[in-house]
Parts: sequence; C-alpha cells; structure tokens
Amino acid sequence: MSGPDPVDDVVATIARSASEIRQGLVGRRGDVDEENPSGETQAEADVWADELLEDRLTSIDGVAQYASEERSEIVDCEGEGYCVAVDPLDGSSNLKSNNTMGTVFGIYDEPLPAPGTALVASGWILYGPITTMAYARDGSVTRYELTGGERTVVEENVTIPADPLVYGFGGRVPDWPEEFDAYAREVESDPGHKLRYGGAMIGDVNQVLTYGGIFAYPALEGAPRGKLRLQFEGNPIAYLIEAAGGRSSDGSQSILEVEPTDVHQRVPVHVGNTELIDRLETVLE
Ligand code: F6P
Ligand code: MG
Repeated sequence: MSGPDPVDDVVATIARSASEIRQGLVGRRGDVDEENPSGETQAEADVWADELLEDRLTSIDGVAQYASEERSEIVDCEGEGYCVAVDPLDGSSNLKSNNTMGTVFGIYDEPLPAPGTALVASGWILYGPITTMAYARDGSVTRYELTGGERTVVEENVTIPADPLVYGFGGRVPDWPEEFDAYAREVESDPGHKLRYGGAMIGDVNQVLTYGGIFAYPALEGAPRGKLRLQFEGNPIAYLIEAAGGRSSDGSQSILEVEPTDVHQRVPVHVGNTELIDRLETVLE
C-alpha cells in the first residue's frame, strides 16, 4: 500500500495557507529595512509569508528542500523527497496601491537549483477580488476557488483559448532590445489584441491563461537575463502554461530547458499561445 502523496500535501498546504496570507496582508503593507537576494526591497508581508510557508512546508514528510525568492539559502529538511520553490508574494510592490498579487510554487523532484524538466507540479494563487488557484500536474491544469480553508474546482483540463486577446510586456520600453521592440509593435498592431499590464506577473499571466495572448518580461539592454527568477517564477509558470497547451521561451528554447546554475538566477520570460511564442523566437533569432 502506498502512503500519502507529498505533492498533494504540499498543494493542499499552500491552498489552505492562501486565505491566511491574504488576511495577513492587512497591517503588513510597509517595507522592512532589508533587500531580498535579488536586491529588491522587501515588504513586511514578503518576509511574513515566506516564514509562514517555510514553517508549514518543511514540516511535511517527503519535502527535502524549501527555497524562496525572499531568502538567500535553501532550507534543507532531513530526509529525501521533493524540493519546493516559492515566490511567497509575487508583485508585492502592488501592496502599496492595493492591486493584484500572487503566490507561485514549483515542486521539483531534483535538488535545487533544478531544471524545469524536473518539475512534477506547479501552480499559483491569485489574490484578486476572490482568491483562485491554477494548478498543473501530469500535463493538465485545474482552476480552483479558495474560500477559508476550502478548495472548490471551477474548471478541469484548462487550456489557453485559441484566439489570443491580451498582451503585457515588462521592463521600460527604451530598454527593450531592438528585435523585441519590433515584435511588440507587431503584436500591438493586431486589432484583435489588447494591452493588459498590472505589474504582478501572476495577475498578468493569469489573464493570458484566461483570454489567450502573451506575457513577457524580456531580456533588457543592460539586463540580458531580464528580471524574473528561473526557479521561483520562470519554471513554474512555463510548466503550467505548457500544460495548458501554450508555449514558454527564454528567447530561443522552452524555459523548462534552461540549465540552472544558481537558485536566484534570472531568465527572460515569454509565455502564451504557441503561434505568438514561435513568432517571437523567429524575430529574436
Ligand atoms: O516578481 C517580480 C515582479 O514583481 C513581477 O511580479 C512583475 O511582473 C514584475 O516584477 C514587475 O516589474 P516592473 O516593475 O519592472 O514592471
Ligand atoms: Mg515575483
């Protein structure tokens, strides 16, 4: 007889914690006097959500490592098992203006830093008008609504709509490399496309999953690896978008194929409908 599945346990724990994280944002909207390992100012809520998830996820049997965007070192648990990488509060600079944020997670079956091909599951929580979760495992995506500790399935076998509608590209426009700029002009000139950019990756990527389209935080002049982090952001969203029938790219290959060298390394991120990503790779070549 097989025991409980640690992957299910990790996902259930994150889903249960989401309502608490959401409630805990009240009164924690200020910054602390610290930077995360990527040099970004930390909000009180970033540190708090990281500690809450570390505490809960490292006590699960079958979790071997916990890593987060908000701490330099990987936490090693005793024993073997899955390695969980999280961005506890994605887009936390939106706290000040009270706009959308998320929690991102990737569950790898190799020690971190690991390639995206080692992911067995990934997902994100979106703190919007309601709290939702998108979760990918075994090549299929499920959407949930989260209320209190409860998780309700809203849709199974989620796929990106075939007709792309929205696009959102991060980084300052003057910092975009010429080829990416040309691509962006092409995308925006299509009368079927609308701009959506909210400054929280999960909010923007969730729109792409819902309406079809493309989200990118590309390589920039002066920042050839872009801004987003491979272990905590690039890989988990690439895994989910690919499971939903879309594509991911670092500019020339699937993000899941990128060789990891450091737990906090960055990667240019482009995710969305297959034909839009194929075209992007042709333009960037
Ligand atoms: O995690 C980094 C992040 O907050 C993403 O959620 C978001 O897409 C991006 O940074 C926003 O960056 P910028 O402020 O450069 O648009
Ligand atoms: Mg983030």
